[in-house]
Amino acid sequence: MTTTTQQHTASDLFAQALRYENRADPYPYFAQLCRRPVVPEENGTWLVSGYHEISRLLRDPRVSADRRRPEEEQPIRKSLLVEDAPRHDQLRHQVTEQFVPRIMGLRDHIDGLVTGLLDAHTSQRPGQLDVVGDLAYPLPVTLICELLGVPREDEPVFGSIARRLTRGLDPVETQTEDELRELREARGELVQYLEGLIADRQAAPADDLLSGLMFGQGSDAPMDPIDLRVTLALLLIAGHETTVNLIANGTLALLRHPDLLARLRAEPDLVTPLVEEVLRYDPPVQMSGRSTLADIDLGGTTIPKGSRVRLLLAAGNRDPRRFSDPDRFLPDRPGNAHLGFGGGIHYCIGATLARTEAQVALTALARRLASPRLVAAPPPYRENAILRGPDRLLVSFDRLTPDPRSV
Ligand code: HEM
Repeated sequence: MTTTTQQHTASDLFAQALRYENRADPYPYFAQLCRRPVVPEENGTWLVSGYHEISRLLRDPRVSADRRRPEEEQPIRKSLLVEDAPRHDQLRHQVTEQFVPRIMGLRDHIDGLVTGLLDAHTSQRPGQLDVVGDLAYPLPVTLICELLGVPREDEPVFGSIARRLTRGLDPVETQTEDELRELREARGELVQYLEGLIADRQAAPADDLLSGLMFGQGSDAPMDPIDLRVTLALLLIAGHETTVNLIANGTLALLRHPDLLARLRAEPDLVTPLVEEVLRYDPPVQMSGRSTLADIDLGGTTIPKGSRVRLLLAAGNRDPRRFSDPDRFLPDRPGNAHLGFGGGIHYCIGATLARTEAQVALTALARRLASPRLVAAPPPYRENAILRGPDRLLVSFDRLTPDPRSV
């Protein structure tokens, strides 16, 4: 970091937080931004980094979830993530009616998947595990495929599309021409892929969320075919490009705090507040966006109507006015109402599923890896600034303890 006496503009600090060189630790820049919790960038976009200010905007009906620039290519139909009431609420109701019953009682199944992944990969490569490639990525992919009814073996196709699309979520000024072209191609490939999948299901319904939305008997099923495609795309991408980072960031926190790793082995219930602290301290979704439908006053600063707003969730999560000792990883902190899953009407639909996956995965890693050590500190990170997390997370260990329940 450069000298503290130098006066940085908010745009400079934000640009620093986004730079790939700072991907492993953007937090000092967020901390500086948080001192000016509501501030305009030179390009007119507002940066909101205070916890209370972000929370208020997430719940204000005069703030729209539509965060696109007017000059951006507009899709024919918006997903619920960027829709406002009442259409948002109708779409969300259709999804939750199908989603919620399907994720209840999944913990044992998730536990079985985690055991299988650890056994398979550690027997191939004794003494070393890539927590991302061997566990944190395949686990959510398998689950979201099973839930939605997407063939798991299609991962090479939708995985490559998802990687290009999620990079496209980052601020456009951080992307290269090649990446922007790849983004357009990925959008086209995804439409084609999902149309094929919907046609297959039309011919042969199955017991999955896709069939439920297409043929369901719920209060507002079936879903309109275009909404169906857009919703499926949202769930597929959100379902596996985020949880991977929660599991990887949680593993990192445990390896950096051996006292907590030892405590987790002795006190399995610690995993619940521990995962919440990962969501606060190192959130997989670092920021979100909004636009204002009216002049909005936030503690004396007015964001004018028609402004684009970036909600820096990762900064709000370390706001010293809300969390004491914000830069310390403290699972026991009371009242940890972090912003990791957002808030208000767009609060993450997959929160329960993601929490369960992370809790089960971190418990298994703590229980089964004897003397785990980080191979590279910090690990290499993915390019993505918004859906931020390690690209690979190599961990070496003395031995893999058999799952106590299977011996
Ligand atoms: C650790 C994992 C995850 C994190 C950190 C995360 C984070 C978030 C955040 C911050 C939002 C709010 C965005 C906003 O207000 O602009 C959100 C919304 C959403 N998430 Fe997640 N998510 C995760 C996993 C999942 C999973 C597993 C699914 C689906 C299976 C999912 C589906 C969604 C959907 C559909 C929305 C939009 C909800 C709405 O607009 O009403 N997420 N997520």
